[in-house]
Parts: sequence; C-alpha cells; structure tokens
Amino acid sequence: MCGIVGYIGSRSAADVLIQGLKHLEYRGYDSAGIALFIKNQIVIEKSEGRLGNIEKIFRDKRVPLYSSCGIGHTRWATHGKPTTKNAHPHKTGHVVLVHNGIIENYLEIKKELILKGHTPQSETDSELFGFLVLDEMELGASLVTAVRRSFSKLLGQCSVVVMSEREPEKIVGVRNGSPLVVVRDPEGGVVIASDAQPLLPFSREVIFLEHGDLVIATHEGMQVIELESGLEVERKPLSLEWSIEQMDKGGFPHYMLKEIYEQPGVITHTLNQILDRNQKNPFSLFPQPGVNLLNQAQELCLVACGTSWHAALLGKYWIERWSGIPVNVELASEFRYRDPVVRSGTLVIGVSQSGETADTLAVLREMRVRRVPTLGVSNVRGSSIAREADAVFFTSAGPEVGVAATKTFMAQILVMLVFAGYLGFKQKKKSNLEIAQLFNELVKIPHLLSQELEEGSEMLKQIRVTVQNLSHSKGFFFIGRGYSYPLALEGALKLKEIAYDYAEGYAAGELKHGPIAMIDQGMVVVVLAPRDSWRDKTVSNLEEVKARGAMIVGIGDSDDYDLKNLCDDWIPLPSENRSIDAGLLSFILAPVVQLFSYYRAVQKGTDVDKPRNLAKSVTVE
Ligand code: M6R
Repeated sequence: MCGIVGYIGSRSAADVLIQGLKHLEYRGYDSAGIALFIKNQIVIEKSEGRLGNIEKIFRDKRVPLYSSCGIGHTRWATHGKPTTKNAHPHKTGHVVLVHNGIIENYLEIKKELILKGHTPQSETDSELFGFLVLDEMELGASLVTAVRRSFSKLLGQCSVVVMSEREPEKIVGVRNGSPLVVVRDPEGGVVIASDAQPLLPFSREVIFLEHGDLVIATHEGMQVIELESGLEVERKPLSLEWSIEQMDKGGFPHYMLKEIYEQPGVITHTLNQILDRNQKNPFSLFPQPGVNLLNQAQELCLVACGTSWHAALLGKYWIERWSGIPVNVELASEFRYRDPVVRSGTLVIGVSQSGETADTLAVLREMRVRRVPTLGVSNVRGSSIAREADAVFFTSAGPEVGVAATKTFMAQILVMLVFAGYLGFKQKKKSNLEIAQLFNELVKIPHLLSQELEEGSEMLKQIRVTVQNLSHSKGFFFIGRGYSYPLALEGALKLKEIAYDYAEGYAAGELKHGPIAMIDQGMVVVVLAPRDSWRDKTVSNLEEVKARGAMIVGIGDSDDYDLKNLCDDWIPLPSENRSIDAGLLSFILAPVVQLFSYYRAVQKGTDVDKPRNLAKSVTVE
C-alpha cells in the first residue's frame, strides 16, 4: 500500500525522503513523488513507475535542490490509474499533501468542491483533502486547525501528511487508522513515516501515533495533539529490536531468498520469545494476558487473509488434533460482512504478519464491540492489530521485506503448533508423554531446515532441475491432503504472486469433483505427499491425473520410490526428515514450495521482491 515519509531537520530532506521511500518500496507501489520546501516555496517532483525515476529527475537537475523539510510518497493506486498526474504529493494552491488509505465519502466531497468552483486535477480521492484545507485556511484558520476541521469531514481510514507555503518549514500529520510513526532525529529534527523501517537509520525509539493523533513537526521538535480535542498528549516511544542490518539483502540476490534462508533462526527466536521452559508443560507460554485468553477459550475462531489464512488453516488441523478444542478458520474479508454467529466462550484470533491488514483489523474491532475476546498474532510490534487486540503473541521473524510472505508464514505456523501443544497439555486430550514427544520433535526442526537449505542438497538441486523443465507449462495444480493441504494452497499462492503463473491449490480428494476437467498435457500437477497417514490416498488421486496426461512433480520422502516412479519430476525431502513426526513435515514442506516459486520467478525474470500489483500490507479493503 502507499508509503509516506516526511522529514524536517538539518540533513538534506531530498536524501532522507528518497532513502526512506526506498525502505518502503517493499510495500508495493506504482508511482512516487516528493515535495520540498525551497526558499519557502514547495517544489514537487513526481513520476509513475519506480522511485528511480525520481532519483533521475534529481540527478538531471543542474543545481542540487537543497531543502531541510519535505514529504514523500509511494502510491499504490486505488482511485485513479497509476499515472504521474495521480501520483502524490498533490498541490492545491499553497497546500501540499500525501495520503495513505481511502476517503470513503470522496464522491460527495468532490461534488461539493466542484459546486464551490474548485477543479480537481487528478482522479484521486486524496487530492480533495487539499481543497478542504485550502478553503479553511482561506477563512483564516492556521494549518493545524484547517487540517483538524477538514479531517472531521472525512469518512474512512486514512492518514495524511500536509505542508503549506503559508506556514513554511512545518509538517502536520494525522493518523486515522493507517499507521503513522515518528522519531526524533538525534541530529535534530523529526522523521515521520507510514511504517517504522525508514526510521530505523535515525533511531529505534519509535513513537507509534494513536488513532486520532495529529503530529506537528518543526525544526524545534514535535508535538502530538488529539485530532478531536486539540489537547496535547504524551506518546511514549517503543524501543524496536529490529536493526538496520536486518534490512539488508546480506549477499542474497533477493530479499525473498534471504528470508527463506532465515527460517531456521526464526523458529528458534520465536520459541525463545514465547516459551517459558521452566514449566512442566514443555509448551508453557511466558505469562501474559494472551495466556489467560487461551485458558478461558472453549472454541477458537482464527481470522486472517492470504498466507496468514493458510497458516491459520494448518493451525486448525493441529489444534483440533492435539487439544480437541473446536477451531473455525475464517477469511477476514468474508467474515466481517456476513453477520457471523460467534458463540460465547469463543476466542477470536487475528493472524497477520503486518498487523495492519484492514479486513483482519476490522474483524477484531467488530468483535470488541460485541465484547468477544480477541487475540492477535503479529510480527510487528506497535502495529494496529497488536495494539487493538485484547492481547497479542509476537512472532520473532524480524523485518520481512520481500512482498511474498515466507519466514513470517513459518513463524505463524510455529505459533499455531505451540498453541496446539499448550492447549493439548491443558485439555489432557493427549498424554503428557505424547506432548513431550511433540516438543522434542519440534526443537529438531531448525537443524533439519538448515540441512534442507544447505547448498548441494538433493532437494535444492531437484527444485532447480524441475523448474528448468517447466518453461512451457500453461498452469499448475498444487495438491495435498491433511497437513499438506494448507501447504498446497500456499504453494499455489506463492507461484501466482511472484511468478504470475496460473496456479490453484486443491485438497487432493477434491480434484475429481470438478478441476480434473482442466487436466491435460499442458498442466503441471505438483503433489505434496510426504509419508503421513494421508500419503496413500494422495497417491491414488495422483494416478487419476497421471491417466489424463498432466506433468507430475512429486514432493515426498527420498525413499518413496513408488511415488517417485509415478512422477515426471521428483523433489525429495531430505532423508534426515525421517527422524521427525510426520505431523511436523509441514515445516519442511514450506521451504520447498517457497523455493519452487522463487526459482520459477527467477526463470521468468519477474520482480521477485516487488511483484506487480501487490502490497506488503493491505491497509485497504
Ligand atoms: O499482513 P498479513 O499477514 O495480514 O497479510 C495477509 C495477506 O495480505 C498476505 O499474506 C499476502 O497474501 C501475502 N502477499 C502473501 O505472500
């Protein structure tokens, strides 16, 4: 989604804004722009396409544009095409703004503005806010008052950052839903952004503005007031653990590949952060409000989108098996609009790596109104879901820059398994010995993952060979049963996201209920069939597609020769996997489907880390 950076201080604002926007590129965008105060006038440079276009504009200027105050934006088009005209910042008279989110009543506002004689230049909802501010200032209001009054006319969740030539060297930002974070630059000045990553080079003491906060940044410092009352409020900084080094590719050609390779460490860190190892239950969680919520839950409802939904689905399988507690898994975008029945005793858990996904957040808010307890599972401290749920468990995956979720998925499924073990011990559905065995198996996973990812492993070699053979495939089905089914869905999603291949994930048993009609020689069926209790049934389904001429790629145990013989291409899981419970093979399958998509995307030459049309955190419906 859109990214915002604002800076006022003693450094070159153009440099800070461009570097800051680069940190936000991962969020997805289609145009970019910056606005700088130069001798009390605001100069704007913007362009469709990549940020590099803006850098070029600056390079091409003979005289460097020196400025100590400005705002920048990367736009992910919602209202109006991704053109230079629709790119932010928008200038209306002396008012300049950038915006993230949606103004829901923009049509009414637009009609009123046109009746007043204004002529919007772009197709965006964002630009309209500038006219509102301009009109208020023409009536004599200060910039802050004009922004406050104008904001009260908006419906929807959004944040804006505004400057005016009438009040030079001042930035005013409002957070209303979409995040806005602020740090003090130790060299003097203030940096504002739509997420914490551009701020890390300046300070790790980050202030996450609250919903309904307005920040005023000047060379003297910053002040936060409540949008509605205008009263000053104190907002304490949160100390972020993430370091700027983690934002680096670390020698890998893409962030996505680096993040896939970070997965063993993600498991270890997340376990260390949430498990209290001094208790009888090996899955004991460190005391925190979320533990009480889990203890009281008679039923769970997991709500999520995309990859997080796949993690939640796997969570359902594990939690029900180990604890006997009923679990529903819901797509947030559907759940929120269908008058769902939520029985008393239900704990609603929002699973979201970013903690900002609009639909998931909306469900948690709705549940709060209904007095249903809510829990968040998020990778981002200070995120909206982390702050608005009754309690939160954090995954410790570190910053994920690649748009396609990989290591955060790994961390989410880990938390799901920990919930299963924790609740299983508590519910006594399984013996303590079985729970202890599950834990002993789980702690082997980081080591097994490291071996799996080692250069030279048979798995890696075969993924690369398989991808070479795929060049003319017209579409893919990923199939699996049981714990492999959510992984099949995830494999297909990854391939769609980064390689732009037509791909479907299916429960293997469902193929013959319709999709098998699509199977012919141009289709590839990727079958996930590790040695578990579902393997034989999956192999029968495979026979059905083989009979119809599809190319078959098998992913299974290295010594499963029967399966291997049925397949055209074969990706063996590392033989060391035999030492873990079949119920945990999802952890080992995840990197296989991720790398399969990664190498396919590299083969096709797509933009792996910033795939087209996608955003890292989806802050609009
Ligand atoms: O931040 P979230 O986990 O809530 O995001 C949910 C989805 O938007 C996200 O998983 C999306 O599907 C990713 N692009 C997956 O790679």
